[in-house]
Amino acid sequence: MKELRIGMIGYGFMGRAHSNAYRKVNNFFDLAYRPVLKAACGRDEKNARAFADKWGYESVETDWKKLLERKDIDAVDICAPNNMHKEIAIAAAKAGKMILCEKPLAMNAAEGEEMCRAVESAKVPNIVWYNYRRVPAVTFAKQLIDAGKLGKIFHFRAKFLQDWTISADLPQGGAGLWRLDVNAAGSGVTGDLLAHCIDTAIWLNGSISKVTAMTETFIKERKHNLTGKVEKVGIDDACAFLARFANGSLATFESTRYARGHKAQYVFEINGEHASIAWDLHDLHRMDFFDHKDEGPLRGWRSIHITDGDHPYMKNWWVPGLQIGYEHSFVHQVADFLQGLADNKPAGPTFRDALETQKVCDAVLTSARSGQWQNV
Ligand SMILES: NC(=O)c1ccc[n+]([C@@H]2O[C@H](COP(=O)([O-])OP(=O)(O)OC[C@H]3O[C@@H](n4cnc5c(N)ncnc54)[C@H](O)[C@@H]3O)[C@@H](O)[C@H]2O)c1
Repeated sequence: MKELRIGMIGYGFMGRAHSNAYRKVNNFFDLAYRPVLKAACGRDEKNARAFADKWGYESVETDWKKLLERKDIDAVDICAPNNMHKEIAIAAAKAGKMILCEKPLAMNAAEGEEMCRAVESAKVPNIVWYNYRRVPAVTFAKQLIDAGKLGKIFHFRAKFLQDWTISADLPQGGAGLWRLDVNAAGSGVTGDLLAHCIDTAIWLNGSISKVTAMTETFIKERKHNLTGKVEKVGIDDACAFLARFANGSLATFESTRYARGHKAQYVFEINGEHASIAWDLHDLHRMDFFDHKDEGPLRGWRSIHITDGDHPYMKNWWVPGLQIGYEHSFVHQVADFLQGLADNKPAGPTFRDALETQKVCDAVLTSARSGQWQNV
């Protein structure tokens, strides 16, 4: 097996999710490559060391630039906040490293363009962690749509709801709370949550051509953890938008961190000429399907348990009927990335694919400011 020596930048939520995936992937998938956890990078040496020890990284770096200089690193995994993605990715491409970058690709589409140019001119394999594509039920939805089971698609509806920022006492900035700081995150729910919905939507139903959006920032000022001062909040706390797809279908998207009772309710529904599909992250191993061809009195929504060997990815796990979860979407992404390297057929979403989502996010935020429809 060929080694793929990983340098991980950032050891928070995604640092853990990805490390778990690198460790598990060869136990469940037969691949030509094997990830080797070579170095974990974080600014605080003690924390980085503790992370490295826990997850089995061989070494630690406290400066990502040093990590990129190392000859024993083949691929860099960017799990740092959004404002770090561009600088690290461009430097990594120049250093000839493969790049696995967390989403959203960048702070905005202009940054994303620069990143695409850098990886394309350096010809380094690249992928963005829009992991929900690889939940088996979502991949199965893609297979059904591509096989024509839905026919013409009329509607796409997506929501991503949370409730963790309702308290006005919650500060912005720094560890864990960089998502509330526009300078670190670029935007609020649009880049953080809707970006996932947009990536899935484009993957399943093609390009989005225009949008009209509204956003709101419910808490206008919060204490900033890095400056200690009360500062204006620059992110969107909530966003809803209408969209038109290039294929003629209509869409609605909604996201907020103020939907009391919802922790990570990512749901979508697609209505086609022959059939409809619905999926809910809270029940991620199920896909609801309605087929108009079913016989009259028995016609109705069926809830399919996506655990059979002929469902995407499932033959690699347990036996039919036993479900898998959130972390497996990351294992699948690593498996596909490694298979893509072996076959010389890059797995998506590449930086170029993810740029399309970034352009939709930009159009959404522009429309929210102008109150007008915005072409993507
Ligand atoms: N795919 C998904 O579903 C998903 C889920 C959560 C987060 N994300 C994305 O992953 C990225 C990280 O998010 P997170 O939730 O893991 O954040 P986090 O706050 O849990 O972790 C961020 C890490 O980056 C480190 N970091 C910050 N600046 C650094 C620097 N200069 N050098 C080295 N390390 C630095 C922090 O110390 C921390 O370890 C973000 O881009 C986020 O949007 C994606």
